[in-house]
Amino acid sequence: MDHLDGLPLTSSPTPGPTPELVIDLDRVAAAYRGLTGALPGVAVHYAMKCNPHPEILALLQALGCRFEIASAAELDALTAIGHDPAQVLSSNPVKPLAHIVRQHAAGVWRFAVDCEDELDKLAVAAPGAAVVVRLAAHQIRSGVPSEGKFGVDVDTAVTLMLAARERGLRPYGAAFHVGSQMLLPHAWRAPLRAVGTVMYKLAAEDVFLQMVNLGGGFPAKYAGKTPPPAEYGAAIAAGLAGLPYPVAAVCEPGRALVAEAGRLRATVIGTAVRGGRRWAHLDVGAFNGLMESLETGNQLRFPVSDSRGSARRERFCLTGPTCDSQDTIMFDAELSADLRTGDEVYLGSTGAYTTVYASRFNGFDVPRVRCVTGVAIETSDDAAYCG
Ligand SMILES: Cc1ncc(COP(=O)(O)O)c(C=O)c1O
Repeated sequence: MDHLDGLPLTSSPTPGPTPELVIDLDRVAAAYRGLTGALPGVAVHYAMKCNPHPEILALLQALGCRFEIASAAELDALTAIGHDPAQVLSSNPVKPLAHIVRQHAAGVWRFAVDCEDELDKLAVAAPGAAVVVRLAAHQIRSGVPSEGKFGVDVDTAVTLMLAARERGLRPYGAAFHVGSQMLLPHAWRAPLRAVGTVMYKLAAEDVFLQMVNLGGGFPAKYAGKTPPPAEYGAAIAAGLAGLPYPVAAVCEPGRALVAEAGRLRATVIGTAVRGGRRWAHLDVGAFNGLMESLETGNQLRFPVSDSRGSARRERFCLTGPTCDSQDTIMFDAELSADLRTGDEVYLGSTGAYTTVYASRFNGFDVPRVRCVTGVAIETSDDAAYCG
């Protein structure tokens, strides 16, 4: 990798043992440039929870990206690459007290909240901190539903901001998250209107916000089409223009920056025919990397292909290695009809929310991660789709 100083050259295409997640850093860079291009004037803070691999963090930092964290350990990973904590957003609305203490001491100053208890903790552990109130925004179902736990309505948000002021904290911003893999760009409109109402109501109390956080939710391509980033940009620009006064806009994409850059290389460890259906068992499944299969009821359709590449195709139930039925990835993956034990299967768009969720349940290995650059890996555009 000769274009980014200080990053190791990791372009060796040498395959190792499976399961292996190969991350194409060039695609991460392209995704970052695509999103920033579609959202002019919006500062991008990568939601590192979805893939905190140090090479991804270093690459994004080199490109000018900022970060969003949920824990003190995530901040440690950023300080390890020399990132300035003052640029970091702490967006988990409920944080352990000790994590607030550590983040504040390191220089983080913007913290999300959605309840009074959190304000009390901030007043003690991060006196004078800037408060970002999290609004609920789960009107529209997203591809990987992730909303429902956090967020308050407009009136509660106003009450919390006034309560923040009483505690010596700074009422600073409003945030929301439309849900992960949001395929409808207009999903940002209603939450932005709600932010505008919060701003009006707070202005009557002489409180003026400085930031709106548009959250994550920008989609990656799996099997099927996604609206182009420009459509998200247009919906968001219209929403921002409708706010009562200008504020800085930030967003926190995770999946959209890294999912498509990842390809999981797995090995078929066995095949079976059960009840007339063909099964292919891989050395990776829901518990050691593909948890989102389980989270979405197998609706997340990873592009799949295999090393045999036969013209004759057949549908397989694609499952994991454990002795637990819940680790199945897809029930109708189209693969080579003559697929057999020892062949490799490739799952595209697996760069986000995979290795971070992986456990060694039943004693199976989690995927090792290999970052590459200058090597075009097969993508969701050219891999064979399932279903
Ligand atoms: C506060 C916050 N911001 C951003 C994200 C990133 O979401 P996505 O990966 O859908 O872009 C998440 C994901 O859960 C989140 O909780």
